[in-house]
Amino acid sequence: MCGIVGYAGAGEAGPLLLEGLGRLAYRGYDSAGVAVCGDDGRLSVIRAAGRLDRLREKTQDGAALHGSCGIGHTRWATHGAPDERNAHPHASPDGLTAIVHNGIIGNHLLLRSRLEAMGYVFRSETDTEAAALLLHACWLACGESDPRRRALAALRGMAAQLTGSYAICALFAGQPDAVYAVRRGSPLVIGCCDGGYMLASDVPALLGRAHHAVHLHDGEYACVSAEAVELYDADGCRISRESEALDIAPEAADKGGYAHYMLKEIVEQPQALRRTIGAYTGEAGGSLRADLQAAGLGRERLAAVRHVLLFGCGSAYHAGVAGRYAMERLARIPCRAELASELRSRELLLDQAGTLAVAVSQSGETADTLAALRLCRAHGVPVLAVVNAAHSTMAREADGVLLTRAGPEIAVATTKAYTAQAAVLDLLAIALAAARGCIGVREEASLLGALHALPDAVGDLLGVRDSIRRIAEGMAGAHSAFFIGRGIDHAAAMEGSLKLKEVSYIHAEAYPAGELKHGAISLIEPGVPVIGICTQTDTAARMQTAMAEAGSRGACLVHISSGECAVPGAQEIRLPQAHPLIAPVLAAVPLQLLAYEIGCLRGLDVDQPRNLAKSVTVE
Ligand code: F6R
Repeated sequence: MCGIVGYAGAGEAGPLLLEGLGRLAYRGYDSAGVAVCGDDGRLSVIRAAGRLDRLREKTQDGAALHGSCGIGHTRWATHGAPDERNAHPHASPDGLTAIVHNGIIGNHLLLRSRLEAMGYVFRSETDTEAAALLLHACWLACGESDPRRRALAALRGMAAQLTGSYAICALFAGQPDAVYAVRRGSPLVIGCCDGGYMLASDVPALLGRAHHAVHLHDGEYACVSAEAVELYDADGCRISRESEALDIAPEAADKGGYAHYMLKEIVEQPQALRRTIGAYTGEAGGSLRADLQAAGLGRERLAAVRHVLLFGCGSAYHAGVAGRYAMERLARIPCRAELASELRSRELLLDQAGTLAVAVSQSGETADTLAALRLCRAHGVPVLAVVNAAHSTMAREADGVLLTRAGPEIAVATTKAYTAQAAVLDLLAIALAAARGCIGVREEASLLGALHALPDAVGDLLGVRDSIRRIAEGMAGAHSAFFIGRGIDHAAAMEGSLKLKEVSYIHAEAYPAGELKHGAISLIEPGVPVIGICTQTDTAARMQTAMAEAGSRGACLVHISSGECAVPGAQEIRLPQAHPLIAPVLAAVPLQLLAYEIGCLRGLDVDQPRNLAKSVTVE
């Protein structure tokens, strides 16, 4: 989704902005632009539709822009076509102010008509331009003589009239030494670099440049110059906040010799899982114990939970569905897994005292999941966030946090963050089961031992890539595919189907295996791939039946299973022998590889599929 960078420092802003935009490209975008305030105080704005290379050409890699303060943006179109006119930055017609914006201005139509009535002429179809022109109007209306105070007052005046979500960075003509920022609902971080500061909507944009970072909170403002960061609260009072060390190595955001980030991140899963599982297990009395104290989930607190509500979007929701099965089975606790984007359209019917709500999200910024988190908290239900981004809004707003330690995930389609989420939810299931007395110390240790075996099993499984490539060659020309599984394997089927859709653009559907014959089987014709996932012995026989039903209609069968029983006529992928708790997590790996190989065979940009964004910060 849209990305913001900004720079104020001793160096030339242009090349640094282009570099930062390059690091944000993974989020998905369809146009880009930069604005720099020159030493003469004039603002220069350059924008281009399409890939960043167009902007690089137009700006000579940023060198065509002179000045040491600037802002840049990658746009993912919401209001208005993805063309140059709608690209950010948006400047006032007289070149006095320019802004870049992430999020959505809820009342932009109302503002537009008010501003038009004041004589402003809009040049784009974006919601952002309403904020840009409003800022200009506030600047003109402000009686302050000091330029910085006037800029801050204008920004506050603008923000007071905006609804919706935004992170905005602004430049003012005549102020070649300052970038201004304000946020509500969309993230913004200020990185401390040698010789200045960078602003960004996402930490990866800062990697390799910043060593420390200051996170701007909702409602706050900043004036950033080469020398200092001044922070203000919503009332305009000066506040201070310590910067935090950025503990992500710049290499973590490199391709590391792999053809694609997606492949690198698939291969990184053993380390990601080892870090994540290791963080929440400890030894007590010579036995392995699940330790969720970091999230304030001691045994007493867990024992008081009567009901679990898991929610997330896309893959994070699928992790929640898998977690639901584990919690029901191990902890014998009623558990719901819900799509965060649907939660607000339902009656929540939550028992405030006994419910543990769990928001699952890689980015910690997904607007729908964040809204569901806030809704639960507004109903008095405490929320645990399972997030990968330690400084995200969800991590800040939740009552407790369990971090997945997958490291930065750059490919748009999630892989290592998904399996890390599934592992954390397994840990939560084990901890709940132990706290509720459903399992004893010995069984807890044995389940945790199984979970500790997961990283090595994933490592072994990566060796199936050659077999997967052969299957992919047979599937690359398909128009449609079905993924089927029963019980917990339906979660893996949903994840496999989503991965295939995202990176190969093949239409795919996931079905609980028993449901296929209730309608969708009419779509099975010779050659349609049907991928069956079977990791549980109690469902193996019924899965064989479902696969046979599809096979007898000519489907091209692929069977991913932990057991020995093969499906006649199917291409078989065997998962390593594993505990039934972790086998469904393992099943994700060949499904990720399958989608990846098919995407590559079809010549697609698997890291940045069309229309998608890494972090969906609009509802
Ligand atoms: C799928 C994918 C998306 C995300 C979803 C939620 O590969 O990446 O479906 O899982 O947009 O994102 P987060 O986890 O950041 O809340």
